[in-house]
Amino acid sequence: GILILDYGSQYTLLIARKVRELGVYCEVWPCNDERLNQGIDAKGVILSGGPASVHVEGAPSLDLRSGILEKEIPVLGVCYGMQLLAHTLGGKVESARVREYGRAEIQVSPNTIFDGVETTTTVWMSHGDEVTKVPDGFAVVAQTHNGVVAAMANDSRRIYGVQFHPEVSHSVEGLRILSNFVFSAAECVADWNMHDFIEASVDTIRSQVGAAGRVICGLSGGVDSSVVAALLHRAIPDRLTCVLVDNGLLRHQEAENVQEVFEGHFGVDLRVVDAKRHFLDRLAGVTDPEKKRKIIGEVFIREFEKVAAEIEDAKFLAQGTLYPDVIESVSIRGPSATIKSHHNVGGLPEDLGFDLIEPLRELFKDEVRVLGRALGLPPHMVDRHPFPGPGLAVRILGEITEERLSILRQSDKIFIEALREENLYHEIWQAFAVLLPVKTVGVMGDQRTYEDTLVLRAVTSEDGMTADRANLSVEFLGRVSDRIINSVRGVNRVVYDVTSKPPGTIEWE
Ligand code: XMP
Repeated sequence: GILILDYGSQYTLLIARKVRELGVYCEVWPCNDERLNQGIDAKGVILSGGPASVHVEGAPSLDLRSGILEKEIPVLGVCYGMQLLAHTLGGKVESARVREYGRAEIQVSPNTIFDGVETTTTVWMSHGDEVTKVPDGFAVVAQTHNGVVAAMANDSRRIYGVQFHPEVSHSVEGLRILSNFVFSAAECVADWNMHDFIEASVDTIRSQVGAAGRVICGLSGGVDSSVVAALLHRAIPDRLTCVLVDNGLLRHQEAENVQEVFEGHFGVDLRVVDAKRHFLDRLAGVTDPEKKRKIIGEVFIREFEKVAAEIEDAKFLAQGTLYPDVIESVSIRGPSATIKSHHNVGGLPEDLGFDLIEPLRELFKDEVRVLGRALGLPPHMVDRHPFPGPGLAVRILGEITEERLSILRQSDKIFIEALREENLYHEIWQAFAVLLPVKTVGVMGDQRTYEDTLVLRAVTSEDGMTADRANLSVEFLGRVSDRIINSVRGVNRVVYDVTSKPPGTIEWE
């Protein structure tokens, strides 16, 4: 397959994803991975982009222990990867005269990696340095209108560099360029699919866990943890214990569903911890959103540690960390980091004393769903909308009580059922109800009512970072409103939230 060496670009795993989409196996290693010592056995290597400049002291370099260059393995350098190739092979890299960020048009010349690509094509650039002289044996095979070297090639050694990012969708013919490298230059064969991913992960998990020790896996009922649990069950069925901490903030029948699937269907050793009282007692009287999150996080860790201590021989902890979680926690700087900090709430700290197993680290949400289906998880579990760690607590504004939880659960269920009935569920990224601490006047029969207001929220999104309101028809919303008000005691008014993100967030707290 293809080996991708990661130089720190936020797009590295997008390259991996595209290679997988082409049906070719690939792995991503840090650029200075110790395994490079032993040489590599890949049909082609892709050097990712990265934030460094080759001229800066300590900038990550091309690890030559791997024998990449002597063994004449085909190489594609992307952005920083190309600058690194130029720098290492005797070309010249300088600080760019004109910095180019975003969309750019390039002129390409005939070449293996541009086979079938239009002479003028649109790509996505983002660089501060540029290659000003290509190494001996290389030709400039693409340029921007500013005369910047956009690609270089040495076809006889099968070494290529592109200054732009072929892996992002704004590079119109990016996938074709990657495909040319993968199939024509590196001569890979498209013979990889999710079933191979399962086999490879099963092998990795078995060798990581070794001959002794149990793995604990926290289950929340969400897609990611369910898929991890199913994968571990495939790998080490006898040494897996799953833990579901019922915090009392779960959706309708959530704990029961998890039990039915994992205990009933898979026969997993599942411990359901009923911690509802602990959570609700600690949350009594709390209205501040950040305080709620903090309490939920603390109680969860304590409860989890308690069960974990009772599981004999537990050495490993499995988590459903996805690629976007990894990115959000490492490479995004600035205000977004603070906005997103709460997203670790409902998770576990790193120092619980277990070795971590994170088999989904390189996958995107939609790939996780495909994986879940391939593992035999029921569709309703795999296709579910994301659900926040702190659960319904951040959807009850003001104080959380059992009564308000019950009102919200019933209303949410009605909304979700209606979306499923009318085939709208899959068009939406996330849909849910929010209970406001606002009472309004109504009239039911001949009676005046003074009851709670419920918000319906439904958004479309690619990744949860930005979102838009879902265009649900007023007729549909009206039907849901009627059903809720007629059957849920305590709600006499339903409104629809039409805010996008930004400026709003998806959740209300
Ligand atoms: P916001 O509300 O920030 O949410 O637009 C973006 C996505 O993240 C989910 N979310 C959370 N997930 N713990 C989580 O595990 C949290 O504290 C949390 N807060 C928000 C939210 O449901 C949406 O999918």
